[in-house]
Amino acid sequence: MPRELRFETRAIHAGQEPDEATGATIVPIYQTVTFTQDAVGSHRGFEYSRSNNPTRAALEACLASLEGGRFGFAYASGMAAISGVMQLLSAGDHVVAADDLYGGSYRLFTQVMPRFGVRFSFVDATRPEEIDKAFEPATRVLWIESPTNPLLRLIDIAACGEIARRRGAQLVVDNTFATPFLQNPLALGAHVALHSTTKYIGGHSDVIGGAIVVEDEELAQRLQFTRNATGGVPGPWDAWLTLRGAKTLALRMREHERNAARVAEFLVGRAEIAKVHYPGLPEHPGHELARRQMRGFGGMLAIELRGGEAAARRLCESTRLFALGESLGGVESLIGYPWSMSHAAFPPAEKRRKGVNEAVVRLSVGIEHADDLCADLAQALELAARAG
Ligand SMILES: Cc1ncc(COP(=O)(O)O)c(C=O)c1O
Repeated sequence: MPRELRFETRAIHAGQEPDEATGATIVPIYQTVTFTQDAVGSHRGFEYSRSNNPTRAALEACLASLEGGRFGFAYASGMAAISGVMQLLSAGDHVVAADDLYGGSYRLFTQVMPRFGVRFSFVDATRPEEIDKAFEPATRVLWIESPTNPLLRLIDIAACGEIARRRGAQLVVDNTFATPFLQNPLALGAHVALHSTTKYIGGHSDVIGGAIVVEDEELAQRLQFTRNATGGVPGPWDAWLTLRGAKTLALRMREHERNAARVAEFLVGRAEIAKVHYPGLPEHPGHELARRQMRGFGGMLAIELRGGEAAARRLCESTRLFALGESLGGVESLIGYPWSMSHAAFPPAEKRRKGVNEAVVRLSVGIEHADDLCADLAQALELAARAG
């Protein structure tokens, strides 16, 4: 698919030519384990669905195009994609990781990978000098998310790419929050763009998945080999659902962002709230960086309640449209309590040090009508104020 075609066009056509066998306009769900061979050793590009599957291949081509990379790899979940990168490392290797990470990544990095001899240093990645200091001769990977979860801090991807290159390491960017519609890490100097497609790319909270996109062929071969050897692939049905979600990513992201901006503006004016974290607000410390490296500010925001933990918990339990639940990025609005949900894996002192305290509530703003979302938050904030 020519790279000069616009994002919306690539989302609908990249990897999705009419089916060669039947002419089907929509990529079929190739629900098959194996592919009949014409002769021993002679097949039509597909042998066994762990190694390759046409529905999955369509999704991978589409995601590669959306991220502006040459090679896409779909995984069974975001964590399987993250594990896929980890499986490229060997005992003795070292990773510098941002300390502001999805709790599941932190759990993998602190409770699983060290058993295999891979070491991690966690740094405040909003400060490039801290990243540089943490590098060792054995550092192979610099791992960041931007915007971060849940406080939407911005990390300078180009600066991280420059450090990684200078130090002979690879920069991995978990681009789940931004999505390829708003940010392309490879164009900013990253080696790997990674997604939990469970979130905005799938977009309807009905399918778990992950993806990696890279430009470098040698890295692609290692990922293909390792994924085939370890097996963390999605089934064809899940790949198809994710591909269907990706088609409307641009439309949804515009609405998510429009609604998030409205909700942020509404929350800034509320007495119950001490702080609103949304990169689209001019007073957000990452606002200028977001303007430089993103094409919008996204649909996620976090708030801190003046009434502390009691108010935050009551808010989470009092909304009617915002569903209290794990995950983000679906068309429906979600509310979450990072302290005991997405960030449960972090030790309490570590959470407080990073500003993820007991008063923080995270919102994934959906694409319902913004007036209804603000009204829902208003009634819930009134109840929360009584608890706080
Ligand atoms: C930023 C980020 N990365 C990775 C993941 C893991 O993805 P999955 O739940 O699809 O395994 C999540 C899940 O919430 C996430 O928020």
